[in-house]
Amino acid sequence: MTGPAPQPKFRRDYQPPAYRIDHVDLHVDIGEGVTRIGSRLSIARDRAAAADAPLRLDGRAMQLQAIRIDGEPVPESDYSVDAEGLTLSAPPAAFELAIEVDVDPDANTALEGLYRSGRILCTQCEAEGFSRITYFPDRPDVMATYRTRIEADAGRYPVLLSNGDRVDHGTLPGGRHFAVYEDPFAKPCYLFAMVAGDLAEVADTYRTGSGRDVALRFYTDHGSENELGHALHSLKQAMAWDEKTYGLEYDLDTYMVVAVGSFNMGAMENKGLNIFNTSCVLASPDTATDGDYIRVRDVVAHEYFHNWTGNRVTCRDWFQLSLKESLTVFREQQFAADHGSPGVTRIEQVRMLRDIQFPEDAGPNAHPVRPESYIEMNNFYTITIYEKGAEIIRMLHVILGHEGFTRGVQHYLSEHDGGAVTIEDFVTALEIANGADLARFRLWYSQAGTPVVTVRDDYAGGRYRLTLSQHTPDTPGQTDKAPLHIPFGLGLIESDGRAVDLGERSLLTLEQPEQSWTFEGLSARPVPSLLRGFSAPVRVEYDHRTEDLAHLLTHDSDPVARWEAGQELALAAMRAAVSAYQAGEALPDPTALIEAVARLLGDPPADHELLAEMLTLPTERRLADQYAQFDVDAVVASHGHVKRQLAAALQTRVEDFLTGPSAGGYRFEPAEVGRRRLNAVALDYLAAGDASGIDALCLALYHDADNMTDRMAALQALRDRPGPARDEAMAAFAERGRGHALVLDKWFSLQATSRLPGAVARVAELDADPRFDATNPNRVRALVGSFARGNLPGFHQEDGAGYAWLAGHIRQLNELNPQIAARLVTPLAEWAQVAGPRGTAMREQLAGLAGASLSPDVYEMVTRALD
Ligand code: ARG
Ligand code: ZN
Repeated sequence: MTGPAPQPKFRRDYQPPAYRIDHVDLHVDIGEGVTRIGSRLSIARDRAAAADAPLRLDGRAMQLQAIRIDGEPVPESDYSVDAEGLTLSAPPAAFELAIEVDVDPDANTALEGLYRSGRILCTQCEAEGFSRITYFPDRPDVMATYRTRIEADAGRYPVLLSNGDRVDHGTLPGGRHFAVYEDPFAKPCYLFAMVAGDLAEVADTYRTGSGRDVALRFYTDHGSENELGHALHSLKQAMAWDEKTYGLEYDLDTYMVVAVGSFNMGAMENKGLNIFNTSCVLASPDTATDGDYIRVRDVVAHEYFHNWTGNRVTCRDWFQLSLKESLTVFREQQFAADHGSPGVTRIEQVRMLRDIQFPEDAGPNAHPVRPESYIEMNNFYTITIYEKGAEIIRMLHVILGHEGFTRGVQHYLSEHDGGAVTIEDFVTALEIANGADLARFRLWYSQAGTPVVTVRDDYAGGRYRLTLSQHTPDTPGQTDKAPLHIPFGLGLIESDGRAVDLGERSLLTLEQPEQSWTFEGLSARPVPSLLRGFSAPVRVEYDHRTEDLAHLLTHDSDPVARWEAGQELALAAMRAAVSAYQAGEALPDPTALIEAVARLLGDPPADHELLAEMLTLPTERRLADQYAQFDVDAVVASHGHVKRQLAAALQTRVEDFLTGPSAGGYRFEPAEVGRRRLNAVALDYLAAGDASGIDALCLALYHDADNMTDRMAALQALRDRPGPARDEAMAAFAERGRGHALVLDKWFSLQATSRLPGAVARVAELDADPRFDATNPNRVRALVGSFARGNLPGFHQEDGAGYAWLAGHIRQLNELNPQIAARLVTPLAEWAQVAGPRGTAMREQLAGLAGASLSPDVYEMVTRALD
């Protein structure tokens, strides 16, 4: 961690590998503490490479024990080892390289490579973790078939797993045993996985469309096997969906999923052997909310979809990460829309994009969906690569139409099956399959920043004229951006609520700096419904009339635009309150908002989930994002004010939405999800409006709840309300968390996000709680992440203690787990967006971190934030 400053890698420097590795034979010998890993690599020099080209193998945190070429020890003069790898100076044109190394999974707190999660040994190789397992060219364009033999103590590690099919197994002297796996599909090393542990197994079978039986095996710690049913069911749904939608079948005889409690990310699509964070696979009514059920379903599907978009066709280099992630996220989104309320599914995506991706794209971490450089690849698993990337794919889907898009994806997959390719290859395949020209569209991949589309309109004599202009702001290292190809969904709604038939013009194509469209033959000025479906990841600027928004909130047939109208009304009320707050005036009543919501409740949408969504106010973060620099106190006060006023006005109306436990127990199905969601919104408003008896009501609902969703709704409503009801419910909930890590995470999160005074002192106390564990990423996210991201007033406590507390955790994690540490830099990196002395204090913490000895991960995030 000390030494010269880490250097960036550049996309433009890409060189194909000088040596191919066609086959990997691994022997993993799990011992006490140390694990010995032997590899035999079949290597051939590329014809295009020079005869004296050296062979570079990456490798970190391992001890080299032996190295042989074609069975002969390699003389020390022919290779050199450094902290990052091993170089063979002039190897033969074709040879077998045998290497033995020792690694120590128990000492591996970075959770990359081979590491321990509780009693399970497991791996995480994406992006560059395989080079912590053995010396290897750790890059996705080196693809090999693998044969993996694992040997371990039979008592401690009765289950041994790796990619592909088990071809051999047996017992060995000394209480040991072994298993051999073969994966016939050539893969990049980031898709390698192995697991050893004492695991419970839940098995099932899926019959593919062509009639092959696939064995599905899910593994988890003993005691949680009853929480795998939902994930297993979701996997079968995903397998069937991919056959029906894209004609894609699974290709191995076994599909395995392992749940581990210590995992840096959500899940990993290793070929035939997915490894999942427990939070993305375990679910039972008692431990998981509806939101968790949805997340499990979608992450299971996501990892499954990677088998084609990621594994069969992978990325040439890590600058192309979005190639596999954005397409897979989009496929996951299509799947989610087909298995729930499509409108609500879309609204949730838009909310996340606005709350998290837009701020990223406006701050120091703004980067193109296909970045030009990176220091630590793990820092680029961002919401921009994933979710903005998926928005780009969605625009292609809109532009090419469902059939054209699907045909394009199928063409891409058949053209590049078995290959490691680029985003350019993908776009070209779509062009060829559709005879389309996507030249301008490609700019979406290279230009960072959220484009702003400014809308002007006028109406006279039956003619309505709409003018759109676009501009993309400067971002770090990028100025003077070109106009993009923006598909812009449009509706025009007449005063009686009917929509004008726009034909093809319900989707406008904006590709110039400014364009106008004229609509004839209207009897009165229509109300524009803009960016329907959120057809492009842009900010729309339009001087909305309040009465237009109220009209849209009742009449718009597009759920996203309808929801958006309500959000705009609320934001307008909040902005007015911010101005008053800053002028030292009394905060104005949000009259227009209250009236519009009252009207909505008079004629609500039948979909309860959609109604709940429409009643959910924009977050404080979204309000903050309305300003180049935001005033923390004004944002918190104004948001709270509008919510309280609305709550007071709605009190008697929302009481109707309160429901007790469902007859017949918990069911995860759309109508029930909607009912519980509306119940939670009602409780939230009653608490915000300080309704009489609310504490007792929440406590009763907490105790009566027969599922985690209702229990959390009661706890959320009590979270900021000091008193015996809160104390009792929180204590009971902590008790529930005793035997269940994911439940305890929820308890930590509730403490961290509570608005009760003394927030920093409270979280600092939890640092020392024996249940807090800095080596467990889920626990760190539950306490530190929830506080820094989900407690605006607490994190921005005026004395700066919140910033200092976060910086302390970053320092500690910098040593333990640099990947997690680097993620926690983001809240401080927003310093330039925070007005006043707070912004300065945030920057000071970053500067203090910059003076420490940093991992490349944290170094990159801190220096970018200070630039
Ligand atoms: N490919 C995984 C997924 O999205 C995520 C892997 C993240 N790895 C990392 N080092 N950040 O499905
Ligand atoms: Zn993914």
